Amino acid sequence: IAGLRSQLRQAKAHAAAEGPTRPRVALVPTMGALHEGHMALVERAQERAEIVVVSIFVNPLQFGASEDLDLYPRTVESDVERLRTHGVQIVFAPTLSEMYPAGDVPTKVTAGDIGNLYEGRSRRGHFDGVLTVVAKLLHVVGPDTVVFGQKDAQQVFLVKRMISDLNFDVQVATVPTVREDDGLALSSRNRFLDARERIAARALSRALEAAESSADRGPDAVLAAAQSVLAGDDTVQLDYLQVVNPATFLPADDNHHGRAIVLVAARIGDTRLIDNATIQLG
Ligand code: PAJ
Repeated sequence: IAGLRSQLRQAKAHAAAEGPTRPRVALVPTMGALHEGHMALVERAQERAEIVVVSIFVNPLQFGASEDLDLYPRTVESDVERLRTHGVQIVFAPTLSEMYPAGDVPTKVTAGDIGNLYEGRSRRGHFDGVLTVVAKLLHVVGPDTVVFGQKDAQQVFLVKRMISDLNFDVQVATVPTVREDDGLALSSRNRFLDARERIAARALSRALEAAESSADRGPDAVLAAAQSVLAGDDTVQLDYLQVVNPATFLPADDNHHGRAIVLVAARIGDTRLIDNATIQLG
C-alpha cells in the first residue's frame, strides 16, 4: 500500500508536468483472470483519466465457506503483462496480509436489505464483502472515477448506494456487458465449462433475449418467456430469475412501466453463472 501510494505520487507528478495541473485518477477494481470484459472497463477508465489504476485482489471476504475461493483462477503474471500492453501505468495487486493484516476485519460495510436479495440470498454476506473491499480500495487509491461492469448489476446498484450513503467523493462509470459471439457474457468462471456445458450456458443470454421480446406484455410474461428457455436444458439449474425496478432494485410489479432489469443466475454443472439485461416494460 505504501508502494502504491508512492507510485501514485510519481505518476501524478509526471502527468502534471506533461498535461493538466491536476491529473485525474481512475480505478478499475478486479479479481484478475482478466478478459475482454475487464479490458472494456480499462478503456473506459483511460477515457476518463490520465492515470489508471487496476487492482487485482481475490477478496476472501466476498466468498462463502462453500464457494470457489481456492479454485478461483489466478493469473496475475499474464494479467499484469496484458495491462502493461494496454498502457495501464499502475497495477495494484496487494497480498492478503496487506489488505487484511489481522486475517479478517472486524469493521465492515453492510449492504442492507437489498444485499440479501438475489445474488446476496444465494451468497450470504457476499455484498458486505464486496462493499468492504471496495471501500478500502477507494480509500487507498483515492480515484476521481471508479469503473464497474453492468454484468454485475446488483453490485453496481449497491456500490452506488454505498458511495452516496457514505459520502465517498468519487464518480461511478459503468460499462455494458461484453459478450461472446453467441451471447454468453464473458466471465472468469467460463473457463470451468466443458464443451457440453459451454453450449448449455447460452441458455442465460437466450433467456434474457426471450425476456426482452416479451417486455411489452409486463413482468409476468417476461418471467414466463425467460423461464421456458431455461427449463429447456436439464444441464441448467436455475438459481434465481427476477425482474427488478432499477431505482430500488426491488421486484418490479405489474404497475411498473419503463426501464427494468432482468436478473438471472444458474448453475451449469459445477459452475455458477450470472447475467442480466435492461428491458423496457410496456
Ligand atoms: P471481477 O469479477 O473480477 O469483475 C471486475 C469488474 O469487471 C466488475 O466491475 C465486473 O462487473 C466487470 N466485468 C466482469 N465481466 C464483465 C463483462 N463480461 N462485461 C463487462 N464488465 C465485466 O466484480 C468483482 O471482480 C469484485 O466483486 C470486485 C468489484 C473487484 C470486488 O472484489
